[in-house]
Amino acid sequence: MKGNAMETFTLPSSFKLGTATAALQTEGGDRNNNWYEWCELGKIKDGSHSLRANDHYQRVEEDIGLLKELKSSCYRMGVEWSRLEPEEGKFSRDAVNHYRHELQLLKDSGIEPVITLFHFSYPLWFARYGAFESMSGVERFKRFTAFCIEAFGDLCREWIPVNEPNVFAFNGYMDGSWPPGEKDMGLALRVMRHLAVCHMEAYKLIHAIRKAKGWEGETRVGLAVHLRVFDPLSRSPLDRLAANFVQWMFQGAVTHAMTTGRLTWPLGHGTPCGTGIFSDFTGINYYTRDRVKASFRGGYRLSTEKDAPKNDLGWEIYPQGLYRLCKACYEKYRLPIYITENGTCDAKDAFRPQFICYHLAQVSRLIEEGIPVERYYHWTLMDNFEWVEGESAPFGLIHCDFETQKRTLRKSGRLYAEISEKKALTVDMIKRFL
Ligand code: GCO
Repeated sequence: MKGNAMETFTLPSSFKLGTATAALQTEGGDRNNNWYEWCELGKIKDGSHSLRANDHYQRVEEDIGLLKELKSSCYRMGVEWSRLEPEEGKFSRDAVNHYRHELQLLKDSGIEPVITLFHFSYPLWFARYGAFESMSGVERFKRFTAFCIEAFGDLCREWIPVNEPNVFAFNGYMDGSWPPGEKDMGLALRVMRHLAVCHMEAYKLIHAIRKAKGWEGETRVGLAVHLRVFDPLSRSPLDRLAANFVQWMFQGAVTHAMTTGRLTWPLGHGTPCGTGIFSDFTGINYYTRDRVKASFRGGYRLSTEKDAPKNDLGWEIYPQGLYRLCKACYEKYRLPIYITENGTCDAKDAFRPQFICYHLAQVSRLIEEGIPVERYYHWTLMDNFEWVEGESAPFGLIHCDFETQKRTLRKSGRLYAEISEKKALTVDMIKRFL
């Protein structure tokens, strides 16, 4: 990321910065979920296993200490469905107590939680039913959602029912690299539609339960959708058409459905859960951009900008993309924006400090232009189990030695803590960190 000189920025004092994590990627120790099985089948590139991860389930106090060290004012966390409902319809008191303890510690530390209910992992019994492939999956997810809100809704007012339905459907049902390893476009679209309906149903349930209980704090339910920038490879109208097509298929239609309650092509049609409001914030997970070329065989081909800066996984680093996506979402939906994930794979922590500053500078610019970006959750707290990449793709502000479980704050972590505390990047910080 050479070229642009780093400039200072400020963020409003009400702006919250924190980190995002997922249950499966951090907790370790659970054999009752779809990813355990996928690991057992030898599908993880480096042979590592989700059973280890960060051992976070046993280290909640220590890890909340790290959030404090990072001066976090918010935290995005997951709860593991397979721990909470290990058998269909039978819920675990121990797991409830565990997460209540975690939420209480966050509260005592002044850190606002947002809970993700489904972040790619679910119980094996649910997998046996075909997960979200049929509408019965929606009913089972609703029961789990209702249980969670009753169990935790007094300690948590913000919820993300479904993480990245598009990535889940694509990787699990088209590309086949994730469980359940299917390659069927029709099925992928069906799963995406059902996940959109899960979101709509959960939106209504969460508001209804928290209201009926009279629990304090404004209830907010929103998305965490994976948004990429799809730019045409050339100026040709065909490439432009292809770029628009891909962006609608991959992210546009599902974002629209979850925000407005309306299904449109290619997901379906109509308003399966009635009309009304279905989202209180637009949550954006942003990482990178793709170039799109129309191919004459029908369809399109994706590539990565040739001479652009890239992370360890080869993803283009493109901070302006965050600006463009937030602006487009706000113009379309007029909802507050949370950056529910943004981060990079950088084993040496060589460019993560710059990455953070360039992206936050875009956030500051958006706010100056009147776009209500309210949160930034950096992905992620510490190196964790990165799905099929296993332990070999470090995204953490904190290095984790998986053997010893020793956590070590990186330079980017120290910088992020200072930005979070001061709500600014100053000249002095640029000199010391960048
Ligand atoms: C998500 C993401 C994370 C990944 C991150 C880096 O859906 O929330 O997939 O779980 O770890 O995006 O790839």
